[in-house]
Amino acid sequence: MIPPMIKNLHHIGIAVSDLDEGVRRYRDGLGLRFEGIEEVPSERVRVAILFAGETRIELLQGVGEDSAISKFVEKRGPGIHHLAFEVADGQAEIGRLEALGMRVLDESPRPGAHGCKVVFVHPKSMEGVLTELVEVPR
Ligand code: CO
Repeated sequence: MIPPMIKNLHHIGIAVSDLDEGVRRYRDGLGLRFEGIEEVPSERVRVAILFAGETRIELLQGVGEDSAISKFVEKRGPGIHHLAFEVADGQAEIGRLEALGMRVLDESPRPGAHGCKVVFVHPKSMEGVLTELVEVPR
């Protein structure tokens, strides 16, 4: 078996219903360092990026009703949405996971926030946790 290529936890994604309110709570309340807000049209999401030390927290607000994040919040309320791990090669990870019978939601890495390429793994294959694999551009 090929060894796993996970480098580190890249970020924790938290779904929110109101991004400004989320920033207020995590930046002003918890005291996290706020880096900015980015819109990712391909994901229909606005992302607020914050840091707790080295640990990156992304608050996600859906744009439009058929955004996956909007649906998540409507169904379950705000909360932890996914964990993201940095990988060297997303395409290689897809092949490796599928060979293990795990359900990968993307056939190939697709554009994510800040120029990264991302792959999502179905929560049913990850003990109930939606999992994102992030390939950071070099
Ligand atoms: Co993410």
